[in-house]
Amino acid sequence: MAESIQFTTGADRARIYAELAPQVEALLAGETDLVANLANVAAVLKEAFGFFWVGFYMKKGDELVLGPFQGPLACTRIAFDSGVCGHAYSTRETVIVPNVDEFPGHIACSSASKSEIVIPLFDGNGGVFGVLDLDSDKLDDFSDIDAEGLSLIVRSVETAYAKRS
Ligand code: SME
Repeated sequence: MAESIQFTTGADRARIYAELAPQVEALLAGETDLVANLANVAAVLKEAFGFFWVGFYMKKGDELVLGPFQGPLACTRIAFDSGVCGHAYSTRETVIVPNVDEFPGHIACSSASKSEIVIPLFDGNGGVFGVLDLDSDKLDDFSDIDAEGLSLIVRSVETAYAKRS
């Protein structure tokens, strides 16, 4: 297994996502444990971009429960109709929030979080098994470039989910 990731420091995000995607694919292909894989994906994204918070919420019963993450401690349970994470889960669409204070029902785990992107994770059978959530301490820090770049990473996460042990 690769013990480090390579990316061009200071390059634009689109390029860094493109550099990370095949490395994440290879990293996850070598391991079947889902928690281990999610933990490494959170670590890679945190290391590459330095986002304030990067992590997963996983569907458990009728709510989303905190999974592997990097960053300050976070709320542990989110209802499907709550917050940005619940919204992404329920609508099955990526949600970009330029200013979390303007998102009705945003769950403030930290007052330092200013903008957010949440991507639903599909199980291959029509269901959503969780979400990937990234928070920034800067306003308006996420765009379609992140949505596209993260979709490359999420593809590997969904593959890892499908073949988890
Ligand atoms: N802000 C999220 C909750 C999770 S934390 O940001 C880590 C939300 O509104 O769903």
